[in-house]
Amino acid sequence: MSAPFAWIEQELAALREQGLFNTIRTIGTAQGAWLEVDGQRVLNLCSNNYLGLANHPRLTAAAHAAIDRMGVGPAAVRTIAGTTDLHTELERRLAAFKGVEAALTFQSGFNANIAVIPALVGKGDVIFSDRLNHASIIDGCRLSGAKIVAYDHNSVGDLRAKIAAETEYGRRLIITDGVFSMDGDIAPLPDLYTVAAEHSIPLMVDDAHGEGVLGRGGRGIVDHFGLHGKVDVEVGTMSKAFGTVGGIVAGRQVLVDWLRQRARPFLFSSAMTAPDVGACLAAVDLLEESTELVDRLWANARFFRDGLRSMGFDTGVSQTPIVPVMLGEAPLAQQFSRQLFAEGVFAMAIGFPTVAKGKARIRVMNSAAHSMSDLETALATFEKVGKALGVI
Ligand SMILES: Cc1ncc(COP(=O)(O)O)c(C=O)c1O
Repeated sequence: MSAPFAWIEQELAALREQGLFNTIRTIGTAQGAWLEVDGQRVLNLCSNNYLGLANHPRLTAAAHAAIDRMGVGPAAVRTIAGTTDLHTELERRLAAFKGVEAALTFQSGFNANIAVIPALVGKGDVIFSDRLNHASIIDGCRLSGAKIVAYDHNSVGDLRAKIAAETEYGRRLIITDGVFSMDGDIAPLPDLYTVAAEHSIPLMVDDAHGEGVLGRGGRGIVDHFGLHGKVDVEVGTMSKAFGTVGGIVAGRQVLVDWLRQRARPFLFSSAMTAPDVGACLAAVDLLEESTELVDRLWANARFFRDGLRSMGFDTGVSQTPIVPVMLGEAPLAQQFSRQLFAEGVFAMAIGFPTVAKGKARIRVMNSAAHSMSDLETALATFEKVGKALGVI
């Protein structure tokens, strides 16, 4: 009789052989432009810490103050043991920041997606979902039990065709990522809204990579396109530009009232902790006070992407601070990442199943925390490794 997990050993061996085995590095310092990773000081191009808030003194002080007042743990789920005034204050501030009636926080962006989608559609219903939507949207769709119809990436024409082809349905829902996390391109939200409105289908956007990045002072994709009041569900995360952790669903009061009754990760899992919430409140304060960090993020991203392109790298369809360096096969991407690391630059290779086979890449995350000299160092290192591996 074979060992119960012999099949896992075989699968892992196959991943290693194909260059698809993901080895996670260990970080020994706080988030920032420079990190100690596996004992080596390296320039950080991996984190979603867009605005450098993950170790910002205002956020860490707010987290300490929240611990001093509320302790560290929520003790039980909010529906059973009550909710803190800190959580309701954050939800009020997030709703005001995004210009919506109400918001509800979750433990993570992943949980926000698996909370809201099954609360809105179920068996007998149809979801139209962009083919490149994030894994948490896909899992939320699967959990709902609704029929999932994937439309071609960012193709409004294909969405129209797919809607026309689905004649049997109860409720319907259109879901798109706002900024696509592996390519850095932006969903055509105004056109998606036109289609949604024509068919009276609710529209949902996951703005995980737009929150704190797109729109006036980082108010997100809806603000970027001036679509206030037209997008029915906005999902977001505080784990990226907000520098902490936690998910959010924002929209009409009736949506949030319903989620408080029916969203399973809200009903059956404990809330964000007090220090998370305290730090998020400080992030909202900072964003409301000034656009300086958001402006610097975009200036850095433009400089870096232009630099890579002028050296001859393929940066795909990126329009945002997420800049993929397209390399094709996973072993080349992994080799590229290893050589960057040996030269003091931390930028991870991304391969299947996170992206399609043959679309492996190095994914560069720009941030407001980088100085001009950091970016010049990074560009020089990419040039050196790119030439050594025959990519440019
Ligand atoms: C588009 C998108 N949605 C949701 C998430 C999940 O966010 P969190 O890390 O807060 O669970 C991510 C994170 O990678 C994401 O990129």
